[in-house]
Amino acid sequence: MTTAPASVFLPTLPGHYYTDPAVFELEKRNIFEKQWLYVCRAEDVPTPGRFVRTALGDETVLVVRGRDQMLRAFLNVCRHRGAQLCLTDSGDAGKAIRCPYHAWAYQLDGRLITAPNWQSMDSIDKADYSLHPVHLAEWHGLVWVSLAAEPEPFEEQIWPQLDYRLGGDRDKFARYGLADLVLGKRVDYEVAANWKIIQENFQECYHCGTIHPELVETLPQFRNLTGGADATYDTDGYLFAEGKTSFSVSGTAELPRIGGLEEHDDRKYYGMVMRPNCFISLLPDHVIVHRFEMLSPETTRVVCEWLFPPQTVAQDAPYDIADSVELFHRVNQQDFAASEWCQPNMKSRAYRNGGVLVPTEQEIIGRWYYRWYHEAMGVDPAGQGERS
Ligand code: FES
Ligand SMILES: [Fe+2]
Repeated sequence: MTTAPASVFLPTLPGHYYTDPAVFELEKRNIFEKQWLYVCRAEDVPTPGRFVRTALGDETVLVVRGRDQMLRAFLNVCRHRGAQLCLTDSGDAGKAIRCPYHAWAYQLDGRLITAPNWQSMDSIDKADYSLHPVHLAEWHGLVWVSLAAEPEPFEEQIWPQLDYRLGGDRDKFARYGLADLVLGKRVDYEVAANWKIIQENFQECYHCGTIHPELVETLPQFRNLTGGADATYDTDGYLFAEGKTSFSVSGTAELPRIGGLEEHDDRKYYGMVMRPNCFISLLPDHVIVHRFEMLSPETTRVVCEWLFPPQTVAQDAPYDIADSVELFHRVNQQDFAASEWCQPNMKSRAYRNGGVLVPTEQEIIGRWYYRWYHEAMGVDPAGQGERS
């Protein structure tokens, strides 16, 4: 009797994980309404009264800057009869957050100020009708919130991910000075794919040679990433091709370098997934931040922002960022198209048990990403991520 040789493949998640509303509901409870999610940059709420609104699971959340300059987050739910308080994705609430329905007014720190005809109800303690606060953390200029009653400490969610990617060199990340960079360009992409398909794609480069001609021309290592089942990120970054002085379509865009960088940071790319909804790409002259909004089991909005040192995008600056922006814009379009090639077939009978991960995909997707996913979902990971 012969024994079948062990497969070099690992299984992916089964197809219904990418389509099933029941799975998506579980993800809302266990991930989107529990973990720390990236919402906006502090620059988006620069002055008192400015707000950003975002949807997380079944909730909508406001991030508001107070008169004391503090950032706070609240559920966007009026304590009277539940109207949405802010009706746009961003804006200026002025001195108070005023409900559009019956005009209850809240201070920027969430306390109820007054309501029409308050005399008839002044036996009520206003303190009992403050807006519901939401946990908020600001990290290198990125604002994260958690809807958990008692979230895991923010640092415990974020740093292990960064350490995995940068080999524990936290100073390297700090050198990019994210909090001091400003927006140069934003593009919103509506992607007809489950959020995990897009994230899995971002964590393997097996596809790079096939669909990213401009990217592999810039980063030749991406053409054919070798390495077996234990292949992980190169914590030293990926070096630009010879003759390429910048991460741009031409390869020669001349933009000011980010101030704090050191010589060995030059001509290098670092890309990282900060679960559950943020990608960060570090480059010598800009940083790209992707934010995910998980809209439904089969649709995801991806907001991509290109951040630059202020002098690069100052009004009279002699620089053109278009060449640099265009490179990752094409990568985005290519990646999102590929994600959309897969999504319809997640319901196919041929994909009921999922597909396979080749060796170079196994460490980061199969072990690192799926292990996190199963732990977050509270599912016993035994059997997942193991050789089939
Ligand atoms: S629902 Fe907000 S004031 Fe009535
Ligand atoms: Fe890609």
